[in-house]
Formats: sequence, structure tokens, C-alpha cells
Amino acid sequence: MAVYQATTSAPVNIACIKYWGKRDTTLILPTNSSLSVTLSQDHLRSTTTSRADPAFTETKLWLNGKEEDIKSGGRLERCLKELKKMRKERIEDKEPNAPKLSEWNIHVASYNNFPTAAGLASSASGFAALTSSIAALYGLNTFPSSSAKPSIASPSELSLVARLGSGSACRSLFGGFVAWEAGSLPSGTDSLAVEVAPQSHWPTMHALICVVNDAKKGTSSTSGMQRTVETSALLQHRIKHVVPQRMEAIIKAIKEKDFDSFAKITMADSNQFHAVALDTAPPIFYMNDVSRSIISIIEELNRVSLEKTGHLLAAYTFDAGPNAVIYTEEKNVKQIIEIIVRYFPQAESNPFPDPFKLFGGKQPAAVPLPEGFNENVAKVWEVGSVKGLIHTSIGDGPRVLAEGETLLGVDGLPK
Ligand code: DP6
Repeated sequence: MAVYQATTSAPVNIACIKYWGKRDTTLILPTNSSLSVTLSQDHLRSTTTSRADPAFTETKLWLNGKEEDIKSGGRLERCLKELKKMRKERIEDKEPNAPKLSEWNIHVASYNNFPTAAGLASSASGFAALTSSIAALYGLNTFPSSSAKPSIASPSELSLVARLGSGSACRSLFGGFVAWEAGSLPSGTDSLAVEVAPQSHWPTMHALICVVNDAKKGTSSTSGMQRTVETSALLQHRIKHVVPQRMEAIIKAIKEKDFDSFAKITMADSNQFHAVALDTAPPIFYMNDVSRSIISIIEELNRVSLEKTGHLLAAYTFDAGPNAVIYTEEKNVKQIIEIIVRYFPQAESNPFPDPFKLFGGKQPAAVPLPEGFNENVAKVWEVGSVKGLIHTSIGDGPRVLAEGETLLGVDGLPK
């Protein structure tokens, strides 16, 4: 008998205009629109295999090899229900011969190629990979969508499903620069992701992730943002008077490849997101002293660069944790790494993988600071304060992978 299965990978995205706050916590409808850059799956990705089989007695999910509970009425179940409905209404009800995959249980195995310990949010790529793999299994989309076989559900429609799993996941259905339009309908059908510009529009956009050592467990995004909605007056100002203008301005900056405006807006929005976290009762702190040192260093680098060339060099942004993501153009990454390793010396036991071959086989070393740079903006931290650097670039949306990449064995269990 035929095996019905599909394996896809999906990317991580990092927001420049942050999503923070829900107006509907079940449908995951946000209080403001947001915008992100999709990062390359060559370095960071979630991979998911989904298989439908009439012999499966239960629907099961394994995350990184460990079986997870599928809570009834939970986020995962809601995603599944929507995908089954699409399969039934758009394919099975129309083609009598199509196998009734929507009636069968499925086994899902998902794997992140980055350690959860790195502190990188995996819910966005995870739910995007889950949604795309089941959509591919159900014949709803071919990822990438091809003109040879028009898709039955577009990436924007599928972003509605991924959103039910985790808000930020809806933006990982596209590559490049992606907006999540907040929408206004109570049903949420207009709260979806759209492509602002593809990866190919600005391929020199790179990202450097500084993985900051973090011992304590922070407040989750889900509970933190609800507390902000309930208690922060500043959030209301942000929703009404700041984000709408910023969305417009950053979309224009992206279309015009205007890095200065892109960087200014990105840094301002990260700072305002952390300000509304501080304005929450009780306050929430996601950044630590290392994070703040990174801000000071990038601000100083930008000050010097602005004086010399009239342009900014880099933009920092921080999510619900202390890690920094630094956006910059490809030509500036080497210099930024050299400055970061000067202030945050790296352990020899943890060499920088240098995926873009910037350092000719050697490890990045501290070089003299640019002329006019005030070296006292930060202290030199102890080894391990920044425990790793990940250099990546802008990337594409979900990809269907070859049969051989399956994460499920012939027995239907994770390999
Ligand atoms: C700070 O998407 O993880 O990364 O919808 O509750 O699953 P849920 O939250 P989540 O929140 C992400 C918050 C953020 C900003 C962003 O990605 O826009």
C-alpha cells in the first residue's frame, strides 16, 4: 500500500516590529501588526515529517525524539483540525477517488537543528514546519508553491493555521521580509502573514546571533504578553500611536533597501518592546547586563560610522530573552564579529564555525577598534558571557524535502 507522508523544513524568523499582546488568546489574534526577517534554513531550521495511515490507532507527536502530549483543545489540536477541514473540503469532497487522509490518524516527528539550550525560540519554526508538513501531506501546497501545480492553500492561508499554534509562527510561512497583519475581524480570518519582499530582494541582509549565557528561566512569551495587556498603559500608546506608523515606515525602508531607516526602526521597536515589559506589573526583564552591553557597543559603532560615512552599520533586536540578533549588511559582518569578540572573548573549546568563510580558517580575533570609538562604552566580559555566535543570512520559506529525509521509520516511529 502507498505510504502517505511528507517532510518539510521551516525557518526561524526574528521580528523587527514586535508582536506583543493578544486580543484573543484562543485564536491568537494580536493587538498589533508585526514584521520580521526570515533567517536561512541552511543554519537554523525545524524539520517535520507527517504520515497518515489508517492503521494508526492514535495521533501522536514526537519533538526531538520525545513523545509529547497532545492536549485536547490545545494549540496543536486546533492546527490539525483546520488542516483536516481544508483537506476534506478542498480535495476529498471534490474528488471521490482521493484517499480520505483527513479521517486517518497521523504520526508527526519534529526536530530542531539548534539546541533548545541556545535559548532561541523554536515555537515559530516548529509550528511552521508542522503546518507545512501536514499541508504537503494533504496535497494543499508543494513548498515552494510552483506554477506547474497551483497550490490549493496559499502560504497566507496556511499562515492562519500556523498562527493558531504560535503567533510568531505565521511569519515563518514565507521567506524574506514578512508582515503579520493584525486584522480586525473577531473570526481572525484577516489576521495573516503576507510577503513584503522576497529573500532575493535584499540578499545581502545578514544576521549575527549572540547567544547570551542565561541561567535563570524567564517568563514565557505567552504569559508575559498577557500580563502586559492587562497592566501596561504604555502598551496602549504603542498599539495606537507607534506601531501603525512604524509598520508603514519599515515597509518603505525595506522596499527601498534603506538600511539606515530599517536599523533605526528595528532598534527603536526592540527598545519599546522591552519598555512595555518593564511597564508590566510586576515588571518583566528579558535583557540582562550582557544584552545592554551589546546595545551600547552597537550604538557606539553606529555613532562612529554615522560621523564618518553618514550611515548606520548595524541594528540590534532582542526577543523574550537576553540573546541579541544583530542585522547588518554582509560587508560589515566581519568587523562586527571582531568587535563582539573583543568585548566578549570566546572559549577555545567552542570555535566559531564561520559558515561564510570570513576568517580564512582562523578564529576571529580582537583587532584595534575603529578610530574615534570610545572603548569604555562596555567592559571586557569574562569568557562565556556570550557563549556562541551564529552567523546567518536572510532565507526562504518552508521547503518540501526528499523522501530520504524522513524522520519516521517504516514502523511509523521516529528513527
Ligand atoms: C518577543 O509567538 O512565542 O518573539 O503566540 O503566545 O506563542 P505565542 O507567542 P510567541 O511570541 C513571540 C514574541 C516575540 C516577538 C515576535 O516574535 O514578534
